[in-house]
Amino acid sequence: MLPAETKAACFLTLSHLKGYLRDDVVDAEMQRREREAAERAEAEAMRRMNIEPEYRDATLDNYVCRTESQAEALAAARDIVSGKILKLVLLGGNGVGKTHLASAVIRATGGVILTAFEMGLRLRDSYNTRGGEDTLLDRWTHVPCLAVDEWEKVKQTEHLAATLSYVLDKRHTRRLKTVLISNQHLRRDCPSGGCPGCFELSLNDAIISRFRQDARIVRVDGEDWRKKGARGGH
Ligand SMILES: Nc1ncnc2c1ncn2[C@@H]1O[C@H](COP(=O)(O)OP(=O)(O)OP(=O)(O)O)[C@@H](O)[C@H]1O
Ligand SMILES: [Mg+2]
Ligand SMILES: [Zn+2]
Repeated sequence: MLPAETKAACFLTLSHLKGYLRDDVVDAEMQRREREAAERAEAEAMRRMNIEPEYRDATLDNYVCRTESQAEALAAARDIVSGKILKLVLLGGNGVGKTHLASAVIRATGGVILTAFEMGLRLRDSYNTRGGEDTLLDRWTHVPCLAVDEWEKVKQTEHLAATLSYVLDKRHTRRLKTVLISNQHLRRDCPSGGCPGCFELSLNDAIISRFRQDARIVRVDGEDWRKKGARGGH
């Protein structure tokens, strides 16, 4: 849906051609301009939500479930969109569709998806602008849905870890939707009874307690969709 003023602008610039050109030619040109404006608006929305081109067509409806846990992950994604749950953690190996689902959730709810690394970069950049960090934190603690991808890249000791704890705590208090995505495993599944790859070890106690309260955690398994032949008929 185009904003009224964009539509009006398309019309105004073309309307004077009516009478000089055939009506169907003017109409076709108007439609072309409207389409272009809609594409620009869509691209701008994707940029704001930070949805990468690879995931621009990713929806919950085109996510294919090949395993039970993928069906569970899809159901959980639907539940966070509807507001049935407010926190979702997707854990799992490469190419099982975690970022696909999270991008679809962000598209449906509004908000932003960022990798932990990108958050670190944006945080560092914000120091160069007066009030930059406040603006960033304000956005991260108010967007309707925040998805933090590649959570495993957050290091406990970094300033980013402290910032993320603050952000997650605020979002919990404000009852806003949060998705965490990671290649890590749960401690109870750890082959060595506790290692840097354990998800819980990358969260501080305060956050663990908030997530324990009401997060849905899904361990997604399946074949890597990026592998040749993995997508079958898709
Ligand atoms: N079950 C699926 N149905 C449809 N498309 C899928 C599915 N799984 C993955 N894809 C597609 O395959 C590509 C890789 O998936 P995605 O990036 O979501 O995986 P990931 O679990 O985030 O992996 P990684 O841990 O490596 O980041 C994407 O283009 C995604 O749209
Ligand atoms: Mg991913
Ligand atoms: Zn471990």
